[in-house]
Amino acid sequence: MKVDVLLGLQWGDEGKGKVVDVLTPKYDVITRFQGGPNAGHTLEFEGEKYVLRSIPSGIFQGGKMNIIGNGVVLDPILFRKEAEGLAASGHDLTQRLSISKKAHLIMPTHRILDAAYEAAKGVAKIGTTGKGIGPTYTDKVSRNGLRVGDVLHGFDEKYAAAKKKHEAILCGLNYTYDIVELEKEWLEALEFLKRFNLIDSEHVINTLLKEEKSVLAEGAQGTMLDVDFGSYPFVTSSNTICAGACAGLGVGPRNIGEVFGIFKAYCTRVGAGPFPTELFDETGEKMCKIGNEFGSVTGRQRRCGWIDLVALKYAIMVNGVSQLIMMKSDVLDTFDTIKACVAYKMDGVETEEFPFDICETVEPVYVEMAGWKTDMTKMTLENEFPEEFNAYVSFLEDELCVPIKIISVGPDRAQTIVRDED
Ligand code: GDP
Ligand code: IMO
Ligand code: MG
Repeated sequence: MKVDVLLGLQWGDEGKGKVVDVLTPKYDVITRFQGGPNAGHTLEFEGEKYVLRSIPSGIFQGGKMNIIGNGVVLDPILFRKEAEGLAASGHDLTQRLSISKKAHLIMPTHRILDAAYEAAKGVAKIGTTGKGIGPTYTDKVSRNGLRVGDVLHGFDEKYAAAKKKHEAILCGLNYTYDIVELEKEWLEALEFLKRFNLIDSEHVINTLLKEEKSVLAEGAQGTMLDVDFGSYPFVTSSNTICAGACAGLGVGPRNIGEVFGIFKAYCTRVGAGPFPTELFDETGEKMCKIGNEFGSVTGRQRRCGWIDLVALKYAIMVNGVSQLIMMKSDVLDTFDTIKACVAYKMDGVETEEFPFDICETVEPVYVEMAGWKTDMTKMTLENEFPEEFNAYVSFLEDELCVPIKIISVGPDRAQTIVRDED
């Protein structure tokens, strides 16, 4: 079998957690391949709501195997909180969750470095989630990182050496901090981590594929936050695109199957950086209010705007998306008109190609359509869709040249409509 990959096509928070949970019954194994506790993946079912950070969203459906892959960066403190919170609500994961020994550890000093670097950037700050993501990936690439497997041998020496490097940087930045309590909690959390299966996940996953087991890889963040192809430097520090699943799990490109690209019927962004279709008026406020657009990790208000097809086409291209999933269409249920950005105007010239830099002066070129003005949240079948909504879906499919296979009409697991299932 192959690994199917599900990933965000916008600036994150597209609804990945919800859809992974919906798709889980079709798979034997669910994996995370990049990112870390900067992610907040929300799932709602049977009146309960869960927000997952580092743990795959496949843990709630019928005893599936879940793996945190080598490409993930793991904070033992936040992982412990997440796992203990789930255990308290009746979801003990110790036997169902395995962690790659090659995943990198977020150290207490990584979190402090994240804050120090942001402070040093001043107005040019990225608006990170403050979880130490950038500094941890920096150490990985500069070959100074600490990996999960290190907790099993020679840990003290490696930890002391990495911490010393961080202390020197923080001293150079003149950044004051207190690490005592945080470090104590972190070291205790490492002991908790050891209770889980710490595995060579690349061997395990490839063996499972040979045994005809099906694997779903759950992306974090979104393509426009990818370190290579996103709106650099306002990005995260990992490859959020499909290729990241190969590197973050140790599977060859020929072992990738379907690539599910997920997007909102409009667009949001949290943190700093360009966002060509951002709305600063009451329409944007309405999207934010109805869509409850507040970050699941930091609680920050998400910036809202119309769907951006220039960015979406680019995201589909760099990921090789084979199926699309549209989320939160219900948020637009009461809008009189719907707009979609089909081109950017830059220095008076129109382009449909996503540019090197999306600077502040990019002007979106919109097409406008009639809204459907119908409550779709209780619909369960495609044939109940209003005409104007079908027109919006057909327009998007024509523009994007990839079929929209799933439409989500509410946050609950049940509010999901699969189209043309054969
Ligand atoms: P993720 O990071 O991609 O998993 O997305 P988040 O969980 O951060 O943000 C998506 C938010 O939208 C969550 O609060 C979900 O409960 C909610 N959500 C998901 N799908 C829908 C939908 O179709 N309609 C509405 N109204 N909310 C949704
Ligand atoms: P999920 O998986 C939305 C954003 C941050 C910031 C930038 C860099 O829930 O979709 P980082 O802490 O990664 O160094 O921050 O990326 N960001 C996200 N935005 N959803 C996420 O994850 C995000 N993870 C990071 O707001 O702009
Ligand atoms: Mg999120």
